[in-house]
Amino acid sequence: MKPRILNIACIGAGYVGGPTMAVIADRCPEVSVTVIDLNEARIAAWNSDALPVYEPGLDEVVRRTRGRNLRFIPQREGAAAVAAADAVFISVNTPTKTQGSGAGKASDLSYVEACARYIAEHAKGHTIVIEKSTMPVRAADTIKRILSTSPHGGTFDVLSNPEFLAEGTAIRDLEKPDRVLIGGEASRAVEALAEVYAHWVPDTAIIRTGLWSAELSKLAANAFLAQRVSSINAISALCEVTGAQVEEVAKVLGSDSRIGPKFLKASVGFGGSCFKKDLLSLVYLCEFYGLTEPAAYWQSVQDLNEWQKRRFAQMAAAHAKKHGGVVAVLGLAFKKNTNDFRESPAIDICNHLLAAGIRLRLQDGRVDPEAFRSVLVDETQAGFAFFSQVEEAVRGAGAILILTEWDSYAEIDWGKLSRLSAPGITIFDGRTIVDRVSAMKAGLPVFVVGQGNDK
Ligand code: NAD
Ligand code: UGA
Repeated sequence: MKPRILNIACIGAGYVGGPTMAVIADRCPEVSVTVIDLNEARIAAWNSDALPVYEPGLDEVVRRTRGRNLRFIPQREGAAAVAAADAVFISVNTPTKTQGSGAGKASDLSYVEACARYIAEHAKGHTIVIEKSTMPVRAADTIKRILSTSPHGGTFDVLSNPEFLAEGTAIRDLEKPDRVLIGGEASRAVEALAEVYAHWVPDTAIIRTGLWSAELSKLAANAFLAQRVSSINAISALCEVTGAQVEEVAKVLGSDSRIGPKFLKASVGFGGSCFKKDLLSLVYLCEFYGLTEPAAYWQSVQDLNEWQKRRFAQMAAAHAKKHGGVVAVLGLAFKKNTNDFRESPAIDICNHLLAAGIRLRLQDGRVDPEAFRSVLVDETQAGFAFFSQVEEAVRGAGAILILTEWDSYAEIDWGKLSRLSAPGITIFDGRTIVDRVSAMKAGLPVFVVGQGNDK
């Protein structure tokens, strides 16, 4: 008989573990879900009214489920939940290694390995262990090896069930996924997990594959998405020097049904905790297997992204130096509708400006200033300050940089703001959202990524 999953534990209460488990609990009222994390402050936040993750729709889902069939507990209280679990998700961070073999490229699996040891120690009976974190291909071998040391004679199936949600749209992506991917060897385990998702995902959208294909598909999917952004950003630079308009070019490309319209928005560069680390992980895997040219190909996607951020920062710095040396930065999150700024282009751009001796006035309605402060490097002592209002941030600025596409920035009344900023001010729109009519009426020049001047 196929095993049923009625008790779930998830290790890792981050941007993926928290929202994913909340949606599973919401859609499967008969399944009890426990989320475990080493970070007790994070667990306390999940149990409060100020959730640690900002995602549209998340509060409502957590309000419906928390205390019903969803709970968040610290790791030190997690042993019983793992022992009772039919399935344990591993949803911890898999950052780029900073030391040892593969440093700078390979994924650091130490957090995953710690979870596997914890499961091996506490699991009882038969447990399905599910890779939710993004892993390098064949990581399941490592997990299986650790699980085989279980002191209580526990037995395990290991599945790969990578997550494809994007931040800012996590709840929508989880509730209506393009696909759910389950990779595994034992079909009983695969079908038991498929039955959980079948509560709300049509079977046609549940893709079953082998373990290694599932692990690799996740890395490849992120690499393909990042590659599209780098491709359009490469075209954006050519637009600027030739007089072409990247929005027009993207529209033409996107109307080809083979290419499709999504992920063709030129920008200051992609950010987020995953694209860079997953590209580098893919580069490392290619190198590990002696595939030099594929490694160089994926590396170039990342290199182009670094170049895009750098050229934007250089243009802004050159202008700001001539106009008072003060820059207002609007938007610190790596994209709109999230408080996450991991690998945000704003970090590198701000640090480039600070290194050039430019004073920064920073604004973002969602990003925690204290946390963002810790990623800034101000060796020139140029200085930076955070402001809650755009009107305050732009005071005395010789350049305004738009680095996140928050809807509120598209609605800025530039007529009002132009009086507050320094003479010679230019807006550098890294997200193509500035209302150019309003800016033009206010006499404010706007540089937009990928917009050539066709005169
Ligand atoms: P995160 O850093 O927000 O959360 C990870 C959590 O795991 C942290 O709270 C940390 O304290 C906890 N943790 C680490 N080791 C632990 C241990 N041994 N025991 C208990 N808790 C532990 O990370 P995230 O953004 O949720 O990403 C998790 C994984 O999902 C990564 O592999 C990532 O690549 C992948 N992923 C992320 C996204 C995204 O949008 N953020 C989307 C798809 C996939
Ligand atoms: C991305 C993928 O979209 C998810 O499928 C995946 O699950 C996730 O990574 C992950 O593995 O972590 P995410 O990073 O949250 O999701 O956000 P995206 O919407 O993909 O945006 C990534 C970056 O690319 C952002 O900085 C965004 O502004 C930028 N971007 C995106 C562009 O510059 N142009 C575009 O057309 C699209």
